[in-house]
Amino acid sequence: MPAPVITVDGPSGAGKGTISHMLSEHLAWRFLDSGALYRVTGQACLLEGVALADSAAVTQVARHLDVDFKADPQGEILVFYKGQDVSRAIRSEEGGRAASKVAAIASVREALLQRQRDFRQLPGLVADGRDMGTVVFPDATLKFFLTASAAERAERRYRQLLAKGENVSLPRLLEDIKERDARDSSRSVAPLLPAEDAIVIDSTATPIAAVFEQVMKEVTAKG
Ligand code: C5P
Repeated sequence: MPAPVITVDGPSGAGKGTISHMLSEHLAWRFLDSGALYRVTGQACLLEGVALADSAAVTQVARHLDVDFKADPQGEILVFYKGQDVSRAIRSEEGGRAASKVAAIASVREALLQRQRDFRQLPGLVADGRDMGTVVFPDATLKFFLTASAAERAERRYRQLLAKGENVSLPRLLEDIKERDARDSSRSVAPLLPAEDAIVIDSTATPIAAVFEQVMKEVTAKG
C-alpha cells in the first residue's frame, strides 16, 4: 500500500499554502510545496543566465536541480538552491512570474514529476500545488481545490507584503494575479483545474480557520 496523500490545489493566494501546512502539522505528515520546485527552477535560470524561453535549457536546469528544503527553528520551511538560501528571492513577484513561465513547459513538468512523487512516504503526505490531484497523485486519498476571487487573493497578498514591510501596489498585484491565472489555466499541459473527484472550497468570504475546520471534517469523515 503506498502512503496516503491529501492534495490541495488551487490558484495562488487562495490559502492553499496555509491550509496544507496546517494540515501536515496537524497530521504530522510530510509536506510538499510543489510551487517551490517551479519557483526554484525559475530562480536557477535567472541565476545561471538561462533564458526562460529556451525550453531545452530550462529543462536541463529542472532535471539537475540541486534543491533542498529545511525547517528553521520556528518551523518555517526554508528553500536552498546549491546550498544557498533562496527562500526570499523565490517568493518575490519576479520569482512568481518566472515560475509560471517555466511551469508552462511540458518537459520541465515531466522532469519534476518523479521528484514530487518521491515525497510520498509514510505516514503520509500533504501536497500543495496546481496539479497534485489531477497529474502527480491521481490516486490521492482526498483531494481539495481551494479557490477565491482574484480581488480577494490580491488583497490578501497585499496585506501579507505590507506586513513584511514591502512597498507594493494593489492594482499591480491584481494585474499580476490575473495574468498568472490566465497563464496557469490556459496552458496545454496540466492546466489549473479541479480534479473530478476534488472537494471545491471557495474561501472568498470564509476566514482561514473556518476553511481548516471544513477540511478537517472531510479528513475525519475519511477516517
Ligand atoms: O504555488 P506557487 O504560487 O508557489 O506556484 C508558483 C507557480 O508555479 C504557479 O504560478 C504555477 O505556474 C506553477 N505551479 C505549477 N504546478 C504546481 C505548482 C506550481 O504549475 N503544482
